[in-house]
Amino acid sequence: MSHQPNQPIGIFDSGIGGLTVANAIMRVLPNEDLIYFGDTAHLPYGEKSADAIRYYALRIAKFMLERHCKMVVIACNSASSAAYRVLLEFFKGQALFVNVVDPLVEAVAARHFERVGVIATKATIQSGVYQQQLLHLQPGLDVRALATPLLVPMIEEGFVRNEVSQVVLESYLGHPDLAGIQALLLACTHYPLIKPEIEAFYQGSVEILDSTDVVALEAKRKLEAHNLLNDQRRHAHRFFISDYTPTFEQTTRIFCQEDILLEYYPMW
Ligand code: DGL
Repeated sequence: MSHQPNQPIGIFDSGIGGLTVANAIMRVLPNEDLIYFGDTAHLPYGEKSADAIRYYALRIAKFMLERHCKMVVIACNSASSAAYRVLLEFFKGQALFVNVVDPLVEAVAARHFERVGVIATKATIQSGVYQQQLLHLQPGLDVRALATPLLVPMIEEGFVRNEVSQVVLESYLGHPDLAGIQALLLACTHYPLIKPEIEAFYQGSVEILDSTDVVALEAKRKLEAHNLLNDQRRHAHRFFISDYTPTFEQTTRIFCQEDILLEYYPMW
């Protein structure tokens, strides 16, 4: 792999949820040029089969490599769970890859909790990746995994900090499987948007952990290790989506403080 520091970082998600990770990367790595791809034509990934998600991820990674990305960040837990290994193998040596599962699992295992909860899409929970990786790093840890499929459409529709989100969250977080947890992992890149509400539900009795900052720091660590940190931004960040509706434009404002221009890219 012969990359230059001034090549961009590619970041992708099923839609705009991965902007929570992109925000953290912009903060931690302000000198990097970013190319974001939201596969809005296939949203939600959380309801798709692992094979379908792998197919989408391979095509999007190819798009990133055609744009000379030195690193590809899989800013989606459903895609990280289903496709990370396949991407590593398929594009071996062609770019650095970062997924959103490993950094969060490592951060949690380092804390030596006894019982943790994981909430995520159906695809992520059914993959068993969090459960397996947490137990691999901390045998004996009590992991309570719960699929919470209503949260992504709820957030995408802008139902945050209102009566609807409160009722939905109370119903999920009050589930008996999550009783007695010390920490809750937000294993979906959409969920940081409702972190304040989740924190309010637990009122400090449960630690709420997400992958935004740990993933940005992992990206920085990998770039440093390969002498690929950029010294200065040269281009405006670009944000592509595979299907366009005005709703996406509106929802983007919930995710990103900066005004960003979504460009339609007909990948499929
Ligand atoms: N942001 C995706 C994740 O982290 C979930 C959205 C979806 O279901 O497409 O899993």
